[in-house]
Amino acid sequence: MAQNTFYVTTPIYYGTAKPHLGSLYSTLIADVESRWQQLNGKETYFLTGTDEHGQKIMQAAEKVGKTPQEFVDSFIAAYQEAWNTYHIDYSQFIRTTDPRHIQRVQALISKLLAQGDIYKGSYDGWYCTPCETYVTPGGQKENPDCTDCGRPTEKVSEETYFFKLSKYQDKLLEWYKAHPDFVAPKERLNEVKSFVESGLKDLSMSRTTISWGVPFPNDPEHVVYVWVDALCNYITAIGYGDDAEKKQFEKWWPANLQVLGKDIVRFHAVYWPALLMAAELELPKQLLVHGWIQVDSQKMSKSLGNVVDPIELADAYGAEAVRYYLLRKIPVNTDGNFSTGDLEQCITSDLANDLGNLLHRMVSLADRYGRHEIAPVEVWSSKAVHLRDESWNAIEEYKMHMQAHEFHLALARLWKFINKVNAYFHEQEPWKLAKSDPHAFLEVLSATCHSLRIIAALLWPIMPTKMEELLRSLGHTFDIKKESIESLELGTWRQTFLLKKMDTLFQKIEEKPVEETTKSAPEKAPEKKEDYIKIDDVIKVDLRVGTITSAESVPESEKLIKMQVDFGDLGTKQIFAGVRKWYQPEDLLGKQGTFVVNLKPRKMLGQISEGMMLFAEDAAGKLHPVNPEGLVPNGVRLR
Ligand code: MSP
Repeated sequence: MAQNTFYVTTPIYYGTAKPHLGSLYSTLIADVESRWQQLNGKETYFLTGTDEHGQKIMQAAEKVGKTPQEFVDSFIAAYQEAWNTYHIDYSQFIRTTDPRHIQRVQALISKLLAQGDIYKGSYDGWYCTPCETYVTPGGQKENPDCTDCGRPTEKVSEETYFFKLSKYQDKLLEWYKAHPDFVAPKERLNEVKSFVESGLKDLSMSRTTISWGVPFPNDPEHVVYVWVDALCNYITAIGYGDDAEKKQFEKWWPANLQVLGKDIVRFHAVYWPALLMAAELELPKQLLVHGWIQVDSQKMSKSLGNVVDPIELADAYGAEAVRYYLLRKIPVNTDGNFSTGDLEQCITSDLANDLGNLLHRMVSLADRYGRHEIAPVEVWSSKAVHLRDESWNAIEEYKMHMQAHEFHLALARLWKFINKVNAYFHEQEPWKLAKSDPHAFLEVLSATCHSLRIIAALLWPIMPTKMEELLRSLGHTFDIKKESIESLELGTWRQTFLLKKMDTLFQKIEEKPVEETTKSAPEKAPEKKEDYIKIDDVIKVDLRVGTITSAESVPESEKLIKMQVDFGDLGTKQIFAGVRKWYQPEDLLGKQGTFVVNLKPRKMLGQISEGMMLFAEDAAGKLHPVNPEGLVPNGVRLR
């Protein structure tokens, strides 16, 4: 296989339910890996799809009075919609009910039958339908619970074909030894090794008591065990078993990376390589195993009502902000926790404040002084040279973490650089230089543009459309075919930028209307709303009258006014209000208003806001301050 290709796969999802946050997570990782390799100049092939056979699907379809085919067909659109929403750029969506897949699985089984790797026998044991797995009883219990999910199993006694898995035990152990990076992270490989060392039994690979599956070659009473059928998708999708597609298969196999969750490691790191060894095919280069996502520290489950729907999440927060959050906050190698509070905080602080605002401040400032074309500087000052060196360090370290699949560390490293660019911009005070030293002013703009260009290219695998938007604002059309990490590394900051003012790149959560944020808490089961609140709830809110003693606009924001408010004995508090659309600071100066003063102080544009001013909206949408009718002493509490 040529060095310059990269084949990445996701597990194929059971066609029994809509996609949820867990399925999104596996798929997102694969998408980011694929885009990252494209940025490294590789041609990539990215496979995802659905696992549509087996007892679980048959039973679920029966329950709702559909045929299994009708049943699985009803979920496909939901997967495709979710992946489109999240800008998942897959090359193929395979379905295991596709006749081409079925024929190619049969081709593989025929080969193994012919060479004696499969034999007929009978299986007498236990089966877990939710996991679609055979369970070996351990301990004293007659009817064992599933060793993976803990649910009850059912007795199965049937004639079956066995795959000679035991024959591959030593070969597998040799393989793991020779390829310590076969499974990432390494700890997962140790679990696999001990499982194999404890002894492998031959694998029952056909069922006669169910009919929804790939018919066994020459023995259609049997259908292929659903896990064997499903694992084969990774090769059937790219043409295994079809002479007409031999070249395509040779181009892509072996896969460079197979992404999967920790619950399905045994299937991928034991059964799958053994089947490939038997088929005389190369093994995938690496399996990347990710942890599980919990929601508010609890397992996601229908009964708890906390299953997160990716589409609702994207509607509420934007798909690319969710992509960033999942990769920034959840390390791939451990279990992680999802909470909307964290997500909102991450959007406001990392995306809106640190990144979006940097772009916005720079472009607005340049615009204010009529500077749109920003030419490179002939001789950079030492401060700019320092920033450029920092950018190269950031690229190197980001690259190292991305190659090791440490997305959270890569992003944390990049944010260190973003903060450096922010500090540089702030310290140079370009708004003063604009008048006093136009040459230095242009240098600050140019250095900031070059830095943002690097940041956007590095972040493209994580937030592709947002970063393309950012680059458009710098006058750069992103074309992945022409982009490369190499050119960023070698870039000597010689570009000209054509700045364009654009809409805010990321909206802060606190600026959203209240109904929008409440509507967007999708991880919670719909709560029954009480019509009444208790008096205690009213008392909790400390509402005070205060006089605005100073008011100024905030240069970095089009909406905010910063006020100092006198609350008499309570002292003076700094409070921000997003009302510039209707008021100039001087309109508010000296006015009294009503404020919530016991809100938790929060950071806005790097400064603390210690309360909230109350406004009432008129029919035209204008906000009016809420005032007592007569003049009252400052600090008076509303009752
Ligand atoms: N159909 C099998 C895979 C066959 S691959 C040849 C399957 N499907 S699944 O739909 O149950 O799970 C698919 C993937 O979603 C797995 O990688 C699993 O780990 C992942 N997730 C499901 N729930 C998850 C979380 N709560 N968190 C993170 N990922 C989890 O298994």
